[in-house]
Amino acid sequence: LFCDAGTVHGEPKCGIKSSSSSSKILIKGGTVVNAHHQEIADVYVEDGIIVAVHPNIKVGDDVTVLDATGKYVMPGGIDPHTHLAMEFMGTETIDNFFSGQAAALAGGTTMHIDFIIPVDGSLTAGFEAYKKKAKNSCMDYGFHMAITKWNEVVSEEMEVMVKEKGINSFKFFMAYKGSFMINDDLLLEGLKRCKSLGALAMVHAENGDAVFEGQKRMIELGITGPEGHALSRPPLLEGEATSRAIRLAKFVNTPLYVVHVMSIDAMEEISKARKSGQRVIGEPVVSGLALDDSWLWASDFLTAAKYVMSPPIRASGHDKALQAALATGVLQLVGTDHCTFNSTQKTYGIDDFRKIPNGVNGIEERMHLVWDTMVEVGQISVTDYVRITSTECARIFNIYPRKGAILVGSDADIIILNPNSSFEITATSHHSRSDTNVYEGRRGKGKVELTIAGGRIVWENDELKIVPGSGKYIEMLPFSYLYDGIEKADAKYLSSLKAPVKRFTSTA
Ligand code: URP
Ligand code: ZN
Ligand code: ZN
Ligand code: ZN
Repeated sequence: LFCDAGTVHGEPKCGIKSSSSSSKILIKGGTVVNAHHQEIADVYVEDGIIVAVHPNIKVGDDVTVLDATGKYVMPGGIDPHTHLAMEFMGTETIDNFFSGQAAALAGGTTMHIDFIIPVDGSLTAGFEAYKKKAKNSCMDYGFHMAITKWNEVVSEEMEVMVKEKGINSFKFFMAYKGSFMINDDLLLEGLKRCKSLGALAMVHAENGDAVFEGQKRMIELGITGPEGHALSRPPLLEGEATSRAIRLAKFVNTPLYVVHVMSIDAMEEISKARKSGQRVIGEPVVSGLALDDSWLWASDFLTAAKYVMSPPIRASGHDKALQAALATGVLQLVGTDHCTFNSTQKTYGIDDFRKIPNGVNGIEERMHLVWDTMVEVGQISVTDYVRITSTECARIFNIYPRKGAILVGSDADIIILNPNSSFEITATSHHSRSDTNVYEGRRGKGKVELTIAGGRIVWENDELKIVPGSGKYIEMLPFSYLYDGIEKADAKYLSSLKAPVKRFTSTA
């Protein structure tokens, strides 16, 4: 057993001693919270599965008993949006699957869904590469697949991914001109293909052509620092692309998932579409909910550069609006877009913001910050907390109730959160391999004191006990609930086209 999660100057940041010996665990007297219900009950786990949930469970002495009186017992977090070991902008994220997952577990997240980037456009090669990257996983994980070019082979491979590889979602980048960006033609092809396979289309919604223009404008104005990143890609361009993707998805009549919703502009497009009955899911990320852009104007380059991500963290006001949208159901679940680069990597862009690797941390902080900014202040209930951090993600990606619930038969991915305890975030104590943290110094109420992943106690007394290779690849089937009724709407549309047209011939 070892931990290479947070090696600093060759020293592991936290001692990994042994994994939990018992495969039988009883959690006693806590408030068990699911998205639909909460009650005081015991939870009994055997061999990685929840086998009983009710008050007063009696067990023998071969069982590890945990007292959760006064605490919340909840499904482990599921992060729908991470980038571990991703090659991006000429470098590779500093967190690999092992260090990123160690950080996740220390923060109460027990599953994540990462984005496979195809290798030279090949989905098959991309899948194989990511299987290798994830080999030493210490928690469960799934994959989305990015689509970065289009041809018959890609179309065929999408079917293989869905039918044989357990992938049920594909991401299309409307930004990053010259690398990942796709045009409307490809997006339309992709939406149609997703629909035929019952897969969920996801979009990174920014107008990449206009961003490119905005970047040129900033450089011409002599604005080369990190603030140029935000100024070159304003909310307007996120709103435009979100609206375009939503309308194209409506034209094809297929569900759409908008990743990292960072602005009021994008959120309002989603709100409008949902009000009209369209199946659109909006995913804010914790950086958009808990930060604003003020640090991007810091005079120290590194202080500012660590906040560079796309779409950018917006001006104060967008954060509160996104929180309100999440609280009222306009947006449905929270991700992180965890995509970490250390100070050395961020410095690649010292003379030109276009070269600062895009991305921030969050996989360890999401559960705490969402609790503190949403539950602690009274914006949402504890059941809603479970829904937006775990259950809704499991439903959307069709793995509920195996994941996202504390029910008999569900996987034993469980956290114990103490609402009276507090947390503090620092780069010296976090588990990411990055030397910085965008939430440096943040304190708040509510602490994940214990994490159980796959039936093992992996985080207890501020210590990780993780086993490389114990994490499983979770295959996800197509045709989630978002596809219910899609055929009926298609039939209605088709019959409307066949309505007779009364036409008269003019005689001149
Ligand atoms: O800045 C970001 N978001 N980096 C990760 C790649 C992406 O667009 O999700
Ligand atoms: Zn560690
Ligand atoms: Zn993106
Ligand atoms: Zn991302």
